[in-house]
Amino acid sequence: MGEPNSPAWEIPQMTRRNIVLVGFMGTGKTTVGKQLAAKLGMDFTDMDRLIEERQGKTVARIFAEDGEGRFRQLERELVRELSAKEGQVIAAGGGIVLNPDNVADFSRAGLVVCLIATAEAILERVGRESHRPLLEGDDKAKRIRQIIEARRRLYAAIPNQVDTTPLTPEQVTGRILDMYR
Ligand code: S3P
Repeated sequence: MGEPNSPAWEIPQMTRRNIVLVGFMGTGKTTVGKQLAAKLGMDFTDMDRLIEERQGKTVARIFAEDGEGRFRQLERELVRELSAKEGQVIAAGGGIVLNPDNVADFSRAGLVVCLIATAEAILERVGRESHRPLLEGDDKAKRIRQIIEARRRLYAAIPNQVDTTPLTPEQVTGRILDMYR
């Protein structure tokens, strides 16, 4: 041990806390998460994409065919799996805060940061998209305001917050790097 020619397996692995981005849809979790992972040389995981890959169907189809309850169950299982690993940047689904166990698990395993934005900024960012089942319907602005209001206390309970409304993704990434280091 400690000899110059020690085999690689004897060298302690450097472990790094996870960074978990939570927050409402359209607050920039995926964009910022990818930037953070690239800057830190860490793996990036987007929870929704991983669930889609494993289920072989989109989140919208899981909601439509299996119901929201099934999606929340898949989300819960993935939170448990990801919380057991280190060195990753994770863009969590916007609804993980609905189950306090998700936030507790992620908080034990790393730095959890909640991205927030005004309903107007969110509408501007997601208004033209059609893959978010909870925002389906004619009046997207109303849906966004309703869901934000219903979840306000859950998002507000997360100690680390970044208001992304006036910031570029690069600026948000910079703020989170400051919190992490
Ligand atoms: C949801 C947010 C979505 C996705 C699903 C439900 C929510 O994730 O998990 O449509 O409940 O807020 P994004 O926040 O990544 O869009």
